[in-house]
Amino acid sequence: MLKIVVCVSGGGTNLQAILDAIDGGRITNTQILAVISNNAGAKALERAAGHGIPGILMSPKDYPDRAAFNRAFTEEMCRLAPDLIVLAGFLVRIPQEMVAKFSNRIVNIHPSLIPSFCGVGYYGLTVHEKALERGVKVTGATVHFVNEGMDEGPIIAQKAVEVLEGDTPEILQRRVMEQAEWVLLPQAIDDIANGRIFVENGKVIRTGKAR
Ligand code: GRF
Repeated sequence: MLKIVVCVSGGGTNLQAILDAIDGGRITNTQILAVISNNAGAKALERAAGHGIPGILMSPKDYPDRAAFNRAFTEEMCRLAPDLIVLAGFLVRIPQEMVAKFSNRIVNIHPSLIPSFCGVGYYGLTVHEKALERGVKVTGATVHFVNEGMDEGPIIAQKAVEVLEGDTPEILQRRVMEQAEWVLLPQAIDDIANGRIFVENGKVIRTGKAR
């Protein structure tokens, strides 16, 4: 049984997609130990509570400095000891000590086709604003393992989404979520839970059947 902790900051629609996939049997072998939010008002915490999953508030604002937060956050994660950390719209930079302790055991969903529109400052609606500004005809989402870099870890899966005439950042964001994010993230968790993917030499290898 893959034990996961899901980290969120806002609406939690990706968390909802994970919950629905567990309920619907599209994610198997997986248990959510806790949902961590940096934002007390996150709707994601309500979604977790509705499923009887403990919600934990961990905000940099509650600590004297980033180093103190990073220490507390990493300690809390080590206490929970998940097999996998899932960043589902989590807007806080993961401490390096946590990346080191959970090497190849942290996944993130990013709302573009990496390496386009990613890196420092590319989060939330900004990603879609930049895609529209550049006039790309196709965007999408990427699920990847987290390493020391920003959106630079080994890519697990990507899905393309069309940009349509008249799109606003909000409309495009919604289409990317519906067509790509809510599909890719649950799929990746199920693949990891059932041993269908592993990392070798910094690349994700997919096997047809469970190892
Ligand atoms: C998603 O677009 C995700 O890719 C990005 O932040 C958004 C979070 O949405 N990193 P939600 O909280 O899952 O609804």
